[in-house]
Amino acid sequence: MCGIVGIVGQQPVSDRLIGALKGLEYRGYDSAGVATIIEGALHRRRAEGKLVNLERRLKEEPLSGNVGIGHTRWATHGASTERNAHPHFSDGVAVVHNGIIENFTELKDELAADGAEFQTDTDTEVVGHLLTRYRREGMRPQEATRAMLKRVKGAYALAILFEDEPSTITAARNGPPLAIGHGDGEMFLGSDAIALAPFTNEITYLIDGDWAVVGNSGAHIFDIDGHPVERPRHISTAAADLANKGNHRHFMEKEIYEQPEVIAHALRHYINIIDSRDMVPGIDFAKVPSLAISACGTAYFAGLIGKYWFERYARLTVEIDVASEFRYREIPLPPQSAALVISQSGETADTLASLRYCKERGLKIGAIVNACESTIAREADTVFPILAGPEIGVASTKAFTCQLAVLAALAIGAARARGTVPEDELQALVRSLAELPRVMGHVLESIQPEIEFLSRELSKCRDVLYLGRGTSFPLAMEGALKLKEISYIHAEGYAAGELKHGPIALIDENMPVIVIAPHDRLFDKTVSNMQEVAARGGRIILITDEKGAAVSKLETMHTLVLPVVDEIIAPMIFSLPMQLLAYHTALFMGTDVDQPRNLAKSVTVE
Ligand code: F6R
Repeated sequence: MCGIVGIVGQQPVSDRLIGALKGLEYRGYDSAGVATIIEGALHRRRAEGKLVNLERRLKEEPLSGNVGIGHTRWATHGASTERNAHPHFSDGVAVVHNGIIENFTELKDELAADGAEFQTDTDTEVVGHLLTRYRREGMRPQEATRAMLKRVKGAYALAILFEDEPSTITAARNGPPLAIGHGDGEMFLGSDAIALAPFTNEITYLIDGDWAVVGNSGAHIFDIDGHPVERPRHISTAAADLANKGNHRHFMEKEIYEQPEVIAHALRHYINIIDSRDMVPGIDFAKVPSLAISACGTAYFAGLIGKYWFERYARLTVEIDVASEFRYREIPLPPQSAALVISQSGETADTLASLRYCKERGLKIGAIVNACESTIAREADTVFPILAGPEIGVASTKAFTCQLAVLAALAIGAARARGTVPEDELQALVRSLAELPRVMGHVLESIQPEIEFLSRELSKCRDVLYLGRGTSFPLAMEGALKLKEISYIHAEGYAAGELKHGPIALIDENMPVIVIAPHDRLFDKTVSNMQEVAARGGRIILITDEKGAAVSKLETMHTLVLPVVDEIIAPMIFSLPMQLLAYHTALFMGTDVDQPRNLAKSVTVE
């Protein structure tokens, strides 16, 4: 969360800082700001809300200066006001920060007792005041930086300007990502390679504990003890990932409709691996006694569906939890086990912490990621790319179905390695997977009118319940998450069988209940749960397939009929109406679909 940029340039930098921040707005859009040094003095412009407000501000009051830093904020400490917007100033110092300074209360008390005057409610401001204090004690900027880094605890990516060192930016990383970009007579800093793509593809990633002094001809990198260290340069391919909306109204819409194409691309890669009968590279599924999966949000729901597949097809026990809880459970993890972490961004702090937790316990780590240059990808033993291309809409859509496609392929690969499914059945599963893009394309073309009708109805509701059994249960939770995050309508996903244990009390004629029920082994039981809803006057929206529609005699508010598909691809097919329902409901509600309130695409705080 929060995006930071910096440029040590030869020409005015404020326009380019804004350009780079645009590539980082997915990390937060509560406020934004830039600071530069002009004739030895720090200047800044800040604005509440999205970057366009800052752009407007800069039009009214342009900012010159060849060296500068910028920030787009996802608020953690302090409201989303201009006063709390970064860069934060203290005497002679400007700071932008991504992360959380966990001991800020203690530092703030100490600094305030020493006479520091705090202007904001943020945790970040202590960084500037500490630096100012050390400068006043006579330390040079580098010494002051080292001393400050020894005092702060928590997670940070920092970019700092010192007024009396006007041709450098000081940077530091512990947790959230930070990359240095190498230009021609100019140097850059950014939270990721996409922000730096307009300037350079030569990137050096700082690792945790690193700090650096960046001048216009290069960077000196140090470890926490101040020893110079070398970090490799990479050639980034992020420029190819710069995305636009095409003819779509929103990135989310574009990303929903892109799914047949990107899944086809992902499947080609994985089906080749399965077909070549090689072991899945990196993890020897034949030997692992169990699998530990952790992820957050939508990626977690993908992992939950993956658990059903690994257990059913590969007879492999799976431990799964949300990454923010995983490491607190103290699960007995045999070191011969493998861990899978799933993350679109590859930067989610909790998922990264789970990865490190499993690594410390000797597990082999596979990372199912979209961003292959991310921290999670770099720290895993094996990377399973989902090949979805850049996902810009904050609500995850194509990354979810690509994660599912990869998990399905890995589960089939694991089943082959473990000899748990006869060869002809494995072949049939692979054939079903190969069918997925075509069926997805057909469904996306055919369901639009019904979705619009249903979304209009949903947009009038206060609460919506989603029910499913088996792999449709995690899908129900994902459907509810999609709806609530972009339409702000309260929604919950439940295991259909759990309804009678509590949530049934909510059912009345105002409560739409979306039932996800492909005609599989579990269909009849789900229909019984639907009966329970109908008996209490609930309004049922049944999402089923042609077989299910033919046998269900229940009166529903609407039955949306999808094609009959193999069980292994049903979650991907049934996720399409979930995504479109959320999208169109949000359109009716008039919300900001691609950048819903309070959210960010990359969550780099715990
Ligand atoms: C919801 C959504 C989030 C993410 C979660 C994990 O639509 O996108 O729930 O799935 O924040 O993010 P990644 O996958 O980047 O680790």
